[in-house]
Amino acid sequence: MNIIGLIEGALNVREMAYCPYSNFKVGAAAIFEDGEIYTGCNIENASFGATNCAERTAIFNGISKGNKVLKALALVGDVNAFTYPCGICRQVISEFAENGEMKIYIVKNKDEILVKTLDEIMPGAFTSKDLDN
Ligand code: THU
Repeated sequence: MNIIGLIEGALNVREMAYCPYSNFKVGAAAIFEDGEIYTGCNIENASFGATNCAERTAIFNGISKGNKVLKALALVGDVNAFTYPCGICRQVISEFAENGEMKIYIVKNKDEILVKTLDEIMPGAFTSKDLDN
């Protein structure tokens, strides 16, 4: 997997963030089963609840191209601290992740990166399996 490209994609797309209300830029990049890197930034709205986080923009970008299986995701928010995915984004990651071992790269800058698995940041996730009964 092109993890360097994934991280660079998140860092670059962060500059496209539309965040006039928070001024908090976030960039994300996702790799799916087609091997391509799909990027996305946060997109805010005057009606704050209509805001879309960077992770969801990136994931929905990949899904819109026909993918179903999320292999890895990188995220960069605050450049002075590690920014973890919000709760809604963790739920969306859970929906498409290949499995709980899927890696999430939490990027402060190109030299400071934390690697977490989905299971580490979303234990006990509610998924489609819970609807099977
Ligand atoms: N944000 C993200 O893009 N991803 C997250 O996981 C955390 C929050 C965005 C949403 C909003 O535009 C800004 O950061 C402040 O909450």
